Amino acid sequence: MSYSRFLPDEQATIDFGRMLIRAVCQITSPHAITLYLNGDLGAGKTTLSRGMIQGLGHQGNVKSPTYTLVEEYRLQGKRIYHFDLYRLSDPEELEFMGIRDYFSADSICLIEWAEKGAGLLAEPDLSVNISYTDNARRIELIPQSEQGEAIIQLLK
Ligand SMILES: Nc1ncnc2c1ncn2[C@@H]1O[C@H](COP(=O)(O)OP(=O)(O)OP(=O)(O)O)[C@@H](O)[C@H]1O
Ligand SMILES: [Mg+2]
Repeated sequence: MSYSRFLPDEQATIDFGRMLIRAVCQITSPHAITLYLNGDLGAGKTTLSRGMIQGLGHQGNVKSPTYTLVEEYRLQGKRIYHFDLYRLSDPEELEFMGIRDYFSADSICLIEWAEKGAGLLAEPDLSVNISYTDNARRIELIPQSEQGEAIIQLLK
């Protein structure tokens, strides 16, 4: 079952990220947990990621991985990979990055612009769609696996 929420302002997006990562961390999975963060430019994908990463105790900045393609965080015994594939010109570049190593069992992958890596990324456990509503946002979570379903159950 999908889940949707209205996010009135930036702080609501950050707070939702903090809640979402708590749920993700409660899930046991034999593979990496992968979230595709979908939405137009400026929808709030990086803002949500910031909430998730800071929610795991990261103190510093969470910069957008627009140029580096991926930023790695090691928090609470997990590896968090935050991808932004907007500037990926060819999905093959992901092969050169050793993309498969990122999807190890104890990792959490947050992927902005996943469509740019089509064919080379793991399938998502959860699709996170952020859309504009006037000056605010709406977030919708669509489970794509058993683990994705379990994450949504924990939010209720
Ligand atoms: N719920 C919200 N309501 C209104 N504004 C919001 C909300 N959440 C985030 N914002 C604002 O929207 C902008 C989102 O920027 P952000 O960099 O997170 O978008 P993005 O989806 O990562 O964009 P890009 O595709 O360029 O990477 C920020 O200016 C932020 O303050
Ligand atoms: Mg972004």
